[in-house]
Amino acid sequence: MENLEDKIKELLDKMTLEEKIGQLQQTGASLAGAFQVDFEELLNMLYDGRMTEAEFGAMMGGAEQDYKEDDLRSGKIGSYGGSMSAEKAMELQRIAVEESRLGIPNMICCDVVHGYKTITPTPLAESCAWDTKLWEKTARVAAKEASAAGINMTFSPMVDVSKDARWGRIAESAGEDVLINSAYGVAKVQGYQTDNPKAHDAIAACVKHIAAYGAVESGRDYNRVDMSTQKLYEEYLPPYEACIKAGALAIMPSFNDINGIPNTANETLLKDILRADWKFKGVTISDSNAVAELINHGYAKDEKDAAMKAIQAGVDVDMTSNCFIENLKELIDEGTLQQDTLDKAVTNVLRVKFELGLFDDPYQTSVAREAEEILSEENRSIALEAAQKSIVLLKNENILPLKKNKKVGVIGELAKSRNDMLGCWAISADEDQCVSVVDALEMKQIPYEYFETADEAAKSDCETILTAIGETKKESGEASSKVNISLSEKDILSMKVLKDAGKEVTVLLFNGRPMAIQWCKENMPAIVECWQLGTEAGTAIVDVLYGDINPSGKLTTTFPYSAGQCPVYYDHMATGRPGGKSRFTSKYIDAPIKPVYPFGYGISYTIYEYKDISCQVTDDEVQVAVTVVNAGECAGEEIVQCYFQDPVAKRIRPVKKLVAFERIALKAGEQKVVKFNVKKSLLGYYDQKMNYIVDDGEIIMMVGGNSEDVLERSIEIVTKG
Ligand code: GLC
Repeated sequence: MENLEDKIKELLDKMTLEEKIGQLQQTGASLAGAFQVDFEELLNMLYDGRMTEAEFGAMMGGAEQDYKEDDLRSGKIGSYGGSMSAEKAMELQRIAVEESRLGIPNMICCDVVHGYKTITPTPLAESCAWDTKLWEKTARVAAKEASAAGINMTFSPMVDVSKDARWGRIAESAGEDVLINSAYGVAKVQGYQTDNPKAHDAIAACVKHIAAYGAVESGRDYNRVDMSTQKLYEEYLPPYEACIKAGALAIMPSFNDINGIPNTANETLLKDILRADWKFKGVTISDSNAVAELINHGYAKDEKDAAMKAIQAGVDVDMTSNCFIENLKELIDEGTLQQDTLDKAVTNVLRVKFELGLFDDPYQTSVAREAEEILSEENRSIALEAAQKSIVLLKNENILPLKKNKKVGVIGELAKSRNDMLGCWAISADEDQCVSVVDALEMKQIPYEYFETADEAAKSDCETILTAIGETKKESGEASSKVNISLSEKDILSMKVLKDAGKEVTVLLFNGRPMAIQWCKENMPAIVECWQLGTEAGTAIVDVLYGDINPSGKLTTTFPYSAGQCPVYYDHMATGRPGGKSRFTSKYIDAPIKPVYPFGYGISYTIYEYKDISCQVTDDEVQVAVTVVNAGECAGEEIVQCYFQDPVAKRIRPVKKLVAFERIALKAGEQKVVKFNVKKSLLGYYDQKMNYIVDDGEIIMMVGGNSEDVLERSIEIVTKG
């Protein structure tokens, strides 16, 4: 049987130059050329509230219809980006396959970042479940629904390690740790693609955004990135590599530069590391308009120069900038661009289309399947499980769980808002399918009274009040960086009024990013991190508030004292003056250096105790064991975390680094011995010459329920070398 590479070569040899270039063109609904309104202005109208999402969707839908047909017939489009329906996707595919000369099917792509119609928690929220099986399960839900709607590639998982709460896209990441982002990304790739990407309910994963987008200077989106090669390799590249090794079929370079080279034209990244070192055979797709933006970066003089630099560096597909479609022919004709370079890019595109089975069956869905799959009971129940496990209980001074027969007061728009439960990148969702906190109280027939103001609540006969505070969904995500991550004056004032009235207040915090909630921690008796949990948000929150679910989530991102501390993260260096009584230590004179809540933190309705840590060192592993006891009154799930420190190294090392974790279930009174077999290679780092080394000598192993409260054991490592 003809092998894949021969099939690709055979097709490539039939293609004209124009058809080859057409395969590298990704267009999408963003080109609202059918309207006399610039797309950027449309987006501004959407974000300013001058246009509803329904109106925006309708306009985009119209643009799709007008824009693609002629270009599909003439083979000028190779992939399409945008949310659509099965009917529209299949029509687009039919034109490409039945009305063009070679009938090459399209990749139909969409940002299905945390669900398509059934929306699961935002990635930062879901990462707080520390549950690889769950992360894969929710990716399966997304893949089933998106593929039912005709989509065959998602621009997800986003695994940009994010240590800066000012950056709005931290909401899309799995937080500040490299191991969590790696594990999260691998689970998502597996959930989207399965072991058989040709399956009709599998979609290609386009991992993003390589690399170090989460390290933008000042937390300002699209800003520059400058860091040592060691830091890039140790703290930012591993999650992308893990996703590539897990078989991701596509990858997207990030908008930012690294050390002066924009990643959309970064040959070291896209060829030396991605292709040569990681053996990636999939397709690289630029970010939206990023090829043209090489001009803004000051790296290309015009669109022709930008097209040349991007394709030469290893970008295969140009998303919506049109630099490729408008310049590559001239670059080939004049001999600037080598035919072989162009062919390699086209080969990567064709390979992914073959691997997705699009040549065998380009129509992998139907209107009937879409109706059956979208928002099914099974999908909603998985979304509920994910929402329940993503909730982090931050504080509880004997307020929670509440009693179902006792009327509760509720204030705060966010308690009624379905739309804000969706979070960023829920572009295909129907907000009216979402359950708010008030919806859930109604559905569960729990007595409540909603108050428009804190004063009304304060004067009411409700002893217990739920106050919903934090961010709307438009305050995080892309292009949503902030210099102020504190709570609004309005939120704090309403909590002060309730406190002064002697009410038992539970804070429900809705947010895309970590927020500076010092005032809450000092003044409120109960704080529940409710993030943006998606379609079943309200149901999950009420399940936790009334004890039907024992909260188990743990923070995967540090909660700063203020934006002034950012970036602040657990795996920091000690410095030469780490603290103590002296004035002359690494600190601020106007704020503490400790965060409000540390990485890995989250409490439960029960109490977990850790004891009897022990370590064994074998030839290539450090085996750590610890006993965890459920010393409380109710069953629960605990996330046991294993960290290490290399206290003396050839380059300074973090005070601690997560190296393993495990989620365990414990009944009241039950105890379990948890074991971690840590490969010695995971204890290594890059020396000044970029050699990866593992030091001989002392290593300190730590285990606990968060990154600060840990049991420690010192061991000696003797490497074979
Ligand atoms: C956006 C984002 C990227 C997304 C792409 C397509 O600008 O940076 O994450 O996948 O455009 O919507």
